Amino acid sequence: MTAATDSLVVTDLRVEFDGFVAVGGVSFDAHPGEVRFLIGPNGAGKTTCIDAITGLSKGSGSVKLGDQELLGKAVNKIVRLGVGRTFQTATVFEQLSVLQNLDIAAGLHRSSFSLLRARRGVDPAIERALEETGLSGERETPAGILSHGQKQWLEIGMMLVQEPRALLLDEPVAGMSQDERTATGELLQRIAQRRIVLVVEHDMDFMRRYASRVTVLHQGKVLSEGTVAQVQADPKVQEVYLGTAGAATTAAMLVVADAGADETTAVTDADADVALSQGTGA
Ligand SMILES: Nc1ncnc2c1ncn2[C@@H]1O[C@H](COP(=O)(O)OP(=O)(O)OP(=O)(O)O)[C@@H](O)[C@H]1O
Ligand SMILES: [Mg+2]
Repeated sequence: MTAATDSLVVTDLRVEFDGFVAVGGVSFDAHPGEVRFLIGPNGAGKTTCIDAITGLSKGSGSVKLGDQELLGKAVNKIVRLGVGRTFQTATVFEQLSVLQNLDIAAGLHRSSFSLLRARRGVDPAIERALEETGLSGERETPAGILSHGQKQWLEIGMMLVQEPRALLLDEPVAGMSQDERTATGELLQRIAQRRIVLVVEHDMDFMRRYASRVTVLHQGKVLSEGTVAQVQADPKVQEVYLGTAGAATTAAMLVVADAGADETTAVTDADADVALSQGTGA
């Protein structure tokens, strides 16, 4: 079912809350084989886009997964069609083991018939998820005592056991150590080989290292779109980031050379860096 031709296509998505336009006509698409990023300042509408795609918020326009329209469908139906998501704060069952958490997540997706059959041993999808997320050695560990990074990976694992076609992640590396960020970026790149991966993230360094394509949202609209180098060099993006509170930090994150990035993901756009440096008045 999951093919390289699979796609998530968002067209003219609008979400309003009591007349306030949180998302005002956003279009973008995502495909397997790329780690797709959605970035933008606080309140830009990133989480609301994900909420609308997953059925948590009501939106108008169109969100198509392959040839199926998602808008208007119930949350559980959208999950069954193959869309998984994580939230800004990890939601795992702290008292239960890693294996039990994955088992519950897998159970949500199984029919009662396959649930009975699966009782004989550990579901192969669970084994794959343990392997893929690097949690094989923690299967009996209560989720509550996992490190922050491991909890996020468990949550990603809980999506993977449902074998989704599309994974939407809301700020997956917030609060992670540098090593955990690197492991998460590599995990997302592996997952994205066969599935649609859409990442909402504030961390510019992480975005620069792992994004294939980026859409920048601002005040509910698409401000810029392209490769990391293209959006970094876009004066509109520089203006938005430099013009907001915390701009110095964001600008620094955009400018600082990424020593840790490998050759395939590092972006060296000297012109953009110079422009940003000048913008900060440095
Ligand atoms: N349920 C809601 N009711 C009313 N307004 C909302 C609701 N959810 C979000 N908003 C508003 O919509 C706008 C977009 O919010 P959203 O959470 O999508 O932003 P975001 O880009 O995810 O920001 P952040 O980076 O802070 O997570 C904000 O102005 C927010 O206050
Ligand atoms: Mg958000």
